[in-house]
Amino acid sequence: MRIDIITVLPELIKSPFEFSIIKRATNKGLVEVHFHDLRKYAINKYGKIDDAQFGGGAGMVMMIEPIDKCISQLKSERNYDEIIFMTPDAEILNQQTANTLSLKENLIILCGHYKGIDHRVRELFITKEISIGDYVLSGGELGAAVLCDSIIRLIPGVLGDETSALTDSFQDNLLSPPVYTRPSNYKDHKVPDILLSGNFPKIEEWRNQKALERTKTIRPDLLK
Ligand code: ADE
Repeated sequence: MRIDIITVLPELIKSPFEFSIIKRATNKGLVEVHFHDLRKYAINKYGKIDDAQFGGGAGMVMMIEPIDKCISQLKSERNYDEIIFMTPDAEILNQQTANTLSLKENLIILCGHYKGIDHRVRELFITKEISIGDYVLSGGELGAAVLCDSIIRLIPGVLGDETSALTDSFQDNLLSPPVYTRPSNYKDHKVPDILLSGNFPKIEEWRNQKALERTKTIRPDLLK
């Protein structure tokens, strides 16, 4: 998979790609992430990429021209499955969306900033808009990092069997059951006996029951 991230703050978003599972995926050649500084496509030598909004109102709006130049350049080099815009006024990211996107070849992710983006960008270039939650961030970069992490860990070969994504919370619309490790008794707080029993069908049953209980208590909306 190849992901092209268009941003005004490349330094802000680079570091999550330099650690842990995402780094491993890159090293294994399973994903390639490229960062594009929107200012390199600015309309003048001062790096102008935003302007006041027509009709008046506070806040600068990202201009269409630099974004058009950057996206057109990328599209002339390869075909993209989706051109995604990170924005709070969009459908909220969930596991299903991450699963679907993890099967794609080439993605562009555009990070928004300032007051918003010239709406023609959304009409002309964007094929999918994603929010990471009902709150407003200063820009789309952190959202893009979240989205990329959720996608990349699902690419076949990124996680080993022992950390298979199939047992994640949400994969079956349930929260994960509790997990424990050594010591089995910590200051009189004991690990549930069943997990030490070696009875694997019973352990599986216990885990399913706990997953259901936790979902009912914490996220009943998932069971609807
Ligand atoms: N940009 C600003 N807020 C955002 C959000 N909640 N999700 C994605 N991108 C954003």
